[in-house]
This record gives sequence, C-alpha cells and structure tokens, in this order.
Amino acid sequence: MNLKQMVGYKAAEFIKEGMTVGLGTGSTAYYMVEALGKRVKEEGLTITGVTTSRRTTEQARELGIPLKDVDEVDYIDVTIDGADEISDDFQGIKGGGAAHLFEKVVAQLSKEVIWIVDESKMVKELGAFPLPVEVVQFGSGQVYRLFEEKGLNPVFRQTDEGEKVLTDSGNYVIDLHLSVIDKPHELAQWLDSLTGVVEHGLFLDTVTKVIIGKEDGPVVKDVKR
Ligand code: 5RP
Repeated sequence: MNLKQMVGYKAAEFIKEGMTVGLGTGSTAYYMVEALGKRVKEEGLTITGVTTSRRTTEQARELGIPLKDVDEVDYIDVTIDGADEISDDFQGIKGGGAAHLFEKVVAQLSKEVIWIVDESKMVKELGAFPLPVEVVQFGSGQVYRLFEEKGLNPVFRQTDEGEKVLTDSGNYVIDLHLSVIDKPHELAQWLDSLTGVVEHGLFLDTVTKVIIGKEDGPVVKDVKR
C-alpha cells in the first residue's frame, strides 16, 4: 500500500453513520473516496457526500456514494482532503489540483477538517510549493503584471498542450513561486483584497486533524483551534 492510499484509507475510518462528508480532490483524496465507497457498499454505511470538484463527483457517483450539492446542506460534519504543503504550525497550501476554490467553500462549512498527506508534504515553513491563485479570465493579465511588479514570480498554469488551465468555474490559475512565505496571514489578506482574484490556496487556521503517511504507518495529529 502506498502512503497516499494508507492515509486515504485511515481517514475513511473516522466517518460515522449518518454523517455529511466533504470529499476533497486529488490523488490522495481519491483513495479516501475509494475507501468510503467500499464502506457504503460492504457495510451499508449511510453518508451524504459533498464534493469539491467534477473529478470527485464522477468518482463518488461511480462508487454509489449519495451526494448533495453544497447549497443543499446546512453544514458538513467532516471534510477530508489532501494538501500540497503543511507547515509546522499546521497552516496549509492547497490548489495543486486547481480545486482550491470549491475546497475552501466546503472546508468553511465543515465542523472538522482532516488533511491527509504523505510525509513529504510536511514542511517547516510554507512556500516551496508554488501558491495557486485562481483569477477571472477578464483582466487576468493585469493581475499577473501586478504580481510581477511585487516580485511574486507569477506563472500562468498551463496544460501539457500549452493552453491555460481552466478551473471547474472556468477561471485561470496563476502560481506564485515564492520559495518562503514569511507572513501567510498578511499575504492572504492582501490577495483577498484584489479585484479579479477569486481565491488563493492559503488555507489558514482551517485544519483540525492531520493524518501523515509514514513508512511505518499513519500518524494522526489533532490540531487545537
Ligand atoms: C487540489 C488540492 C489537493 O488536495 C492537493 O493538490 C494535494 O493533491 P495530491 O493528493 O494529489 O498530492 O488542493 O486542488
């Protein structure tokens, strides 16, 4: 079993009968959805999933996990999702799969947020992973130039064919190559203030439990909020 599968399967154990569950996106979340699908089929577990991307919706539907739209629920009991980086103090970067907008909407509705990662994602400080920023197409060149002027090393995310990547909402993604993010809250506040920026991948003060995949087994860490 690889580390992503190990943590995905471990996280699925935390889901109880009747829960509304936020289903994350990415190669780690994939295994969690797979494990939940097995529990639904084999144990008759009754849950309602709220998905964070088209990809996850398709996977959950194929596995027979009942789904609701995010607007049909009052709250979500637990969301389980991957992450691209988690710092010493449990702040995170997400959006490597360009799903951070929906992921943040779902996380904010959630009583508990569990991140599942292999140990390579645990870092001292955030920033080595390029910070994804989702921007509306109109005027995205202006936002890009502003990032350039500020020395934030922006790069439009592209497909292998050289087209700009489109999110599920039809927006572009600009990745900021920052190396180190000294003050994540200040940066998040500034990005939040920009017209044309839809959402960024800084997930601050969000996670309540982290499951880290290590060679000798998963390690579960509770985060006090
Ligand atoms: C998608 C995400 C993913 O959770 C993140 O990129 C981790 O992905 P993976 O589990 O494939 O490494 O934020 O937008």
